[in-house]
Amino acid sequence: MFSLQVQFIFSLLILTQVSCRLSTDHENRHNWYEKNRLKVKCLQRDDPTGRNAVKLCWFWEGTKSWFRRTSISWFPERTKTWNLTELTAHCNNYYVCMENTKCYKDYVLYETLDRCSHDAFNVGPMSFCNQKLKEIKKSSPEKLSNCTMEYLEEKPPKRWTCESVKRLGDCLYPEVEKYCDSKLLPIFKDHQESRLYYLGCDGRLKFKDFEEPTNSTIPKL
Ligand SMILES: *[C@@H]1O[C@H](CO)[C@@H](O)[C@H](O)[C@H]1NC(C)=O
Ligand SMILES: *[C@@H]1O[C@H](CO)[C@@H](O)[C@H](O)[C@H]1NC(C)=O
Ligand SMILES: *[C@@H]1O[C@H](CO)[C@@H](O)[C@H](O)[C@H]1NC(C)=O
Repeated sequence: MFSLQVQFIFSLLILTQVSCRLSTDHENRHNWYEKNRLKVKCLQRDDPTGRNAVKLCWFWEGTKSWFRRTSISWFPERTKTWNLTELTAHCNNYYVCMENTKCYKDYVLYETLDRCSHDAFNVGPMSFCNQKLKEIKKSSPEKLSNCTMEYLEEKPPKRWTCESVKRLGDCLYPEVEKYCDSKLLPIFKDHQESRLYYLGCDGRLKFKDFEEPTNSTIPKL
């Protein structure tokens, strides 16, 4: 019975969200043709093949990915036993689809992967830790480091840099160790490591087409 209800709710959700994605979500709606995310060769007028592939990918895989993300955020409890591969499978599927279009700039592909998996991590297993840290902030804020207070108070940046990812990881690690479920620590480490990899910070990836973030998008944290 439970699963039937869930299915029903989810069908409703798909309908509302698909229409929502199409009509109101400004950022999502424009993502597939945001020109600075695509390689120049795919923007030429006479050959729409690449652009069509991008559009399809954005629509189908993007919707599936969004759907998965929503189910994680609704039932984060389930993710407590997952490893990073399981947690971010939808991000990888989206990445593969985008890569196959051969139209996205490399650093954009990886940056998107980072954003998606960081988001899944935060709405999934990390959500319990964030909750805990917020409670501590209310009851005894002096226990938390300044950077953790900032993390809890400020919105995440639009674009991450190697420095901001490192700073946040180093900042939160001791707090996670002290206050959160000990099972979170291994996936926290894996996640941090994969972030540094995706953003080309550990030297394994080199992006020929990398574009420096502009000052307005560089985060403080
Ligand atoms: C993650 O879990 C899945 C399913 O239990 C398993 O098949 C996979 O090998 C695991 N991956 C890693 C990197 O441990
Ligand atoms: C943390 O913030 C408080 C108050 O803003 C300040 O007095 C203190 O020096 C800061 N500590 C560190 C280590 O920056
Ligand atoms: C960004 O800020 C730094 C330091 O404030 C400055 O040196 C640099 O010129 C700025 N870059 C741009 C593109 O505005």
